[in-house]
Amino acid sequence: MTGLLGLGGHLGGWRHPDAWSDQVMNLDHAITLARTAERGKFDLLFLADGNAVRQMDKPALFAANSPSDRPAVFEPLTLLTAVSQHTSCIGLLATATTTYDEPYSLARRFASLDHLSKGRACWNIVTSSYPDDSLNYSRTEHVAKDIRYERAREFVTIAKGLWDSWAEDAFVQDKATGQFLDPTRVRVLNHVGKHFSVKGPLNVARMPQGYPVLFLAGQSEDGRELAAQHADCVFAVANTKPAGQAFYADVKGRLDRYARAANSLRILPGAAVYVGRTRAEADELFEELQSLIAPSLGVPYLSKLVEMDLSGIPLDDPLPDLSGETLGIASFRKTIAEMAARDRLTIRQTYERVLPSMGHVTFKGNASDIADQMEDWYNGKACDGFNVTMPVLPRCLNDFVTLVIPELQRRGLFRTEYHGHTLRERMGLPTPKNPYFTSGVKAAE
Ligand SMILES: Cc1cc2nc3c(=O)[nH]c(=O)nc-3n(C[C@H](O)[C@H](O)[C@H](O)COP(=O)(O)O)c2cc1C
Repeated sequence: MTGLLGLGGHLGGWRHPDAWSDQVMNLDHAITLARTAERGKFDLLFLADGNAVRQMDKPALFAANSPSDRPAVFEPLTLLTAVSQHTSCIGLLATATTTYDEPYSLARRFASLDHLSKGRACWNIVTSSYPDDSLNYSRTEHVAKDIRYERAREFVTIAKGLWDSWAEDAFVQDKATGQFLDPTRVRVLNHVGKHFSVKGPLNVARMPQGYPVLFLAGQSEDGRELAAQHADCVFAVANTKPAGQAFYADVKGRLDRYARAANSLRILPGAAVYVGRTRAEADELFEELQSLIAPSLGVPYLSKLVEMDLSGIPLDDPLPDLSGETLGIASFRKTIAEMAARDRLTIRQTYERVLPSMGHVTFKGNASDIADQMEDWYNGKACDGFNVTMPVLPRCLNDFVTLVIPELQRRGLFRTEYHGHTLRERMGLPTPKNPYFTSGVKAAE
């Protein structure tokens, strides 16, 4: 089973007595978390990201802001590069947008991280869910979703082409002959497409992993197809096992079209874990955190997740109809609407149910309960692992590593040691060969 770690957790988590009280822009904390996760043998440390300070046009929501909205954070690739120098095995997963970045600069930054971390770079390919990001990139409105995906497809193809610029043996560095590089071992990309023109080659040598491990977080038809074509892992949204199974079967079912084996794409739903030494301790943690979500926080956050202003509606009224398109993360809106309709939830009950996991599944209990639930999803083909979010930092990561991981290891579901030289090797993912160069010979274009 693959495991990874998302930062964000419960909306009230930062106020808990066991939370760090100085979380803003804190490199030392990031290093501590990465080392703890590495001690636990996690695959990856994951950073979500956006490109704007959010909700300034919604004063209630902005005032209720919490760290999970990332109002002040390090740029992920920069932070993970620093963290890479204090760790040796854990994968470093940075979110970066194909909607507002440029393929050449992003390909270069990920290739650099892969070299600097000795083969641990990982890219969460997103198409930007937050409309106001556009205002920081010389636009007046968010790019429509179909165009975002069209751009993403071209972007990823270019990035891969750039990463294939150099043969592994291109840099001869022979002092005796004076030959620094072999000019026959480089390829100029010459890409001209609808959204980009990029000549190449990349000014970074072939990276240890060939390509970074590629994640995708989109859940729509376009998102699933892009994942089937290019991704190594999908960050899924499923708050019930049947929903996880349906998504798993659908995405894996698309791999044949791209001549890919089922195990070459891992499906990893988000999961919020509330673990205690006993069930009572887990319940206590959960209730303590829930008491920190007043309606003044719950309603604006739920409004944000479902992309509808719920502030004028009485708290104990049913959640209104949420059908219709959104610009952002439609899958959150859909799963929340289905849950509220199925269980006849009011607005208050909906935010109490949704916010502890931010729309993902919640697992609560002692270590054995958590392992049972994870094993059940895994054996039931609802996932290949999880993106585990930690409600309170650093407490919940420490507890997960001390309590849950030994239980998963005892069941043979989690590694006990890291094996392999790169993240791809440690995750059992194939290392892409450069299609343009075979050893010693330049392949046909
Ligand atoms: C689980 C999940 C995590 C996401 N994380 C981010 C993120 O960190 N930054 C971002 O800009 N967009 C993020 N997105 C947004 C997606 O990239 C995409 O723009 C959005 O989900 C709409 O595409 P879809 O309908 O295919 O899901 C995320 C989406 C999902 C489902």
